[in-house]
Amino acid sequence: MVSEMTEDMNIPVSEPERQFYFIKQAKKYVEFLSKEKGRDLTYYVNTFGCQMNARDSEKIVGILEQIGYKPGESEESDLVIYNTCTVRENANNKIYGRLGYLSNYKQKNPDMKIALCGCMMQEDAPVKKIKSSYRFVDLIFGTHNIFMIAELLVRSFEEEKMVVEIWDGTDKIVEDLPAVRKYPFKSGVNIMYGCNNFCSYCIVPYVRGRERSRRPEDIINEIKQLVADGVVEIMLLGQNVNSYGKTLEHPITFAQLLDRIDKIDGLKRIRFMTSHPKDLSDELIEVMKHSKKICHHFHLPLQSGSTKLLEDMNRHYTKEDYLLLVEKLRNAVPDIAITTDIIVGYPGETEEDFLETMDVVNRVGYDGAFTFIYSKRSGTPAAKREDQIDADVIKKRFDLLLKTVQSHAQERAKALEGKTMEVLVESVNSQNKELVSGRLSNNSVVHFAGSKDLIGQIVPVKLICCKGFYYMGEQV
Ligand code: 5AD
Ligand code: SF4
Repeated sequence: MVSEMTEDMNIPVSEPERQFYFIKQAKKYVEFLSKEKGRDLTYYVNTFGCQMNARDSEKIVGILEQIGYKPGESEESDLVIYNTCTVRENANNKIYGRLGYLSNYKQKNPDMKIALCGCMMQEDAPVKKIKSSYRFVDLIFGTHNIFMIAELLVRSFEEEKMVVEIWDGTDKIVEDLPAVRKYPFKSGVNIMYGCNNFCSYCIVPYVRGRERSRRPEDIINEIKQLVADGVVEIMLLGQNVNSYGKTLEHPITFAQLLDRIDKIDGLKRIRFMTSHPKDLSDELIEVMKHSKKICHHFHLPLQSGSTKLLEDMNRHYTKEDYLLLVEKLRNAVPDIAITTDIIVGYPGETEEDFLETMDVVNRVGYDGAFTFIYSKRSGTPAAKREDQIDADVIKKRFDLLLKTVQSHAQERAKALEGKTMEVLVESVNSQNKELVSGRLSNNSVVHFAGSKDLIGQIVPVKLICCKGFYYMGEQV
């Protein structure tokens, strides 16, 4: 087609200049196709998994829009990207199922491009399977090189065969490429990438690589720019934010970083996730206690309440250590909401181990919890164990855990009924256009009568009625 377009040019070697060059090149292809079709070319990015992936997708979208793609309404678009998750097996199965649909769309629109990226693409087995059984996929890349999307698209336009570019790891952090935020008033901000913890069940360290922290100046500058652009709430993102800064040339702690971010004028709310109990310092609790901006919500994954299992999971804390942290957090910030992640059915989990988990759940009384059935991830130490737990036993434990978690969460939510609290308005309610929806500092959702002009504002709302996991309120 137009393959001479990238010839006879000096392709920059350094980043991000190289990607800006490829954005221009990709734009030419998109313009060419768009002229040929007499319409705009559209993209659709489907994001699976965690907030890290959500932020990565915003970066992908930022580049696609510079290239000239317009947002599509559905997966019947000219470029469909699945940003995948692999933390549990069912996440992978979902992708294979959906690829079937995509192949039908591609038959109708042969110029359609299908790209897969994210954590699942960092594993050998799924990539092998896609290469052999899903040959209509155009492009596969991983977690370390999403910044290269423009370059890879150009290759895909030029090579007309499946382009696969997956890196095992990287020490590169490429900054300053465009991103398009889903919400104008709030944004995720990566403060670090990767994970060094190697919890025995978890695949993340294998697919996201070693821990790398961004320089504090770069983080602060990014946040200042976001604030200048209308952002009032940020979510600092990292697999283990509590160990931020250890690998920097001039190490600083997460608490010190938070303290600096707290001073940014115009920024109103600060959130962060995820915390690892083993690295949660008194210094951090102290910073939270004195901050007016750090939200009163702490996500503190427990995984298990059994000290024996925690040791086996390589978590480096005991049940008692965990309970002490909760006590310290509640002493410092009495109205803090505490949420958690819990795994049921880890290999070797006995009834006693499970009861230890239930004991922590009952003692803490979480405001919310993500409960997961253990999923065997090949390559992790736990997958090799022979004492995997019977599915029926797991199901029974899981149901009891879920019921208990929910009853505590509802009780905690109910206790705020009648109070007036600040809500950051996020959207017009999807079911009732007379209502807007927003979040409290503790992350609970509130719906109340209002118009779209309130979006992005923080307003006082009386919590009239608790409906389990959300509130109906009234602006005061
Ligand atoms: N099986 C089930 N849950 C898992 N998680 C991580 N790995 C697994 C696994 N193999 C859960 C943990 C973690 C959350 C993001 O996902 O609870 O905190
Ligand atoms: Fe996985 Fe543990 Fe790292 Fe969290 S801290 S990403 S559970 S290895």
